[in-house]
Amino acid sequence: MNVQITFKPSGKRVRVGQGTTLLQAARRAGVFIPTRCDGKAACLMCKVHISPEWAAFAGPPSDAEQRKLGSLLGEGIRLSCQARVKGAVEVTIPEDRLKAAIRRQLERQASDDELW
Ligand code: FES
Repeated sequence: MNVQITFKPSGKRVRVGQGTTLLQAARRAGVFIPTRCDGKAACLMCKVHISPEWAAFAGPPSDAEQRKLGSLLGEGIRLSCQARVKGAVEVTIPEDRLKAAIRRQLERQASDDELW
């Protein structure tokens, strides 16, 4: 049975079979998730966020995922290369760290400009 995966913030959607990893689903949807270990739960670069209402549909964390993420699992963080979909789920791709730093800097400058 196919299930729909929605990636935020882009809103891109894809239908995949149950058991597909979120990383595979993202690639099929054309959503970029950085990786260095190509799905071996080693690089931790493929982290995504899943809200509590969707958590059950991302399947239980693997042993490797539990070891690598520890308490981050409780915050809704999952390794997209390990999480296998069980049902329709909404996944948030965290903002790239460099882009986030640039965005914060621009916001700070805009705020400073308003003061003058
Ligand atoms: S791709 Fe490296 S930990 Fe998931």
